[in-house]
Amino acid sequence: MSADKPVAGSAVTPPLRAKRYKVGRQDIVLGDCLRALRRMQAESVDVIVTSPPYNIGLSYRSYPDRREENDYLDWMVQVATELQRVLKADGSFFLNISGSSAQPWLPFELVVRLRDLFVLQNHIAWVKSISVGEDSFGHFKPMNSQRFLHRGHEHLFHFTLKGDVALDRLSAGVPYKDKTNIARRGHRQDRRCRGDAWFIPYETVRGRAEKFDHPGTFPIALPEQCILLHGKQKARVLDPFMGTGTTLLAAQRLGCSGMGMEIDAEYVAIARARLMHDLVNSPLG
Ligand SMILES: C[S@@+](CC[C@H](N)C(=O)[O-])C[C@H]1O[C@@H](n2cnc3c(N)ncnc32)[C@H](O)[C@@H]1O
Repeated sequence: MSADKPVAGSAVTPPLRAKRYKVGRQDIVLGDCLRALRRMQAESVDVIVTSPPYNIGLSYRSYPDRREENDYLDWMVQVATELQRVLKADGSFFLNISGSSAQPWLPFELVVRLRDLFVLQNHIAWVKSISVGEDSFGHFKPMNSQRFLHRGHEHLFHFTLKGDVALDRLSAGVPYKDKTNIARRGHRQDRRCRGDAWFIPYETVRGRAEKFDHPGTFPIALPEQCILLHGKQKARVLDPFMGTGTTLLAAQRLGCSGMGMEIDAEYVAIARARLMHDLVNSPLG
């Protein structure tokens, strides 16, 4: 099959023409995100929530997740430059990324490169499993090593254009543990800020199929909390590395419209099926 020229920076040669789909208020592009982003209107997005390939050798269906480090970082900066262009002045960009024991610096190298484009307004730790005293919560993925600790968290960087975006901390917040705080400190409701460590474990699954045969999904609560924290009703949400559509599913459940981009046709099919199933079965549908 003939194909377009590879997009500079992209590791996969995208299909001749991007395909577009719509499920309810969610738009999906099957194609290269850099190319699709360049066609988007400037300042048209309220919230970006995305988890790009981490360049740590995960087995995606078509994307080769191990590139020369500088190529990878250059490509990420190109994508982030477009994200900066499409983000509204009061928008939020949540970037979920992690390193590996072999590449511990990578997320930090990337974030330093993004300094010219964004202000780092918050740095959230997405905690996937944790031990508290003698107890433990979340899924423990054993690591056979004398040197490295079990990796229980990932980064969630919250970027904005100027660092001055007001958030709805209580929408994404939690009730007070000590209820006397409410009257004593004059709070109007039983809700406080969640803080910057978010414990969001994966749901228990019995096989890869239940994870949609995708090696790097995030739980829906993660994009949900990001969208709630940004706090805009009916926000326009974007995920340029949509995978199985988790961000769009969160957008749909919160009454937002979304745009997702994904290079792999199989993952796009899964995302469409998830959104359709949710639309038919949810009260919003
Ligand atoms: C970490 S995964 C995202 C998973 C997603 N958060 C979910 O919950 O399903 C990154 C995705 O980026 C996709 N991808 C890689 N290169 C791309 C490109 N140039 N344009 C769009 N998507 C791309 C991969 O196929 C992969 O599905």
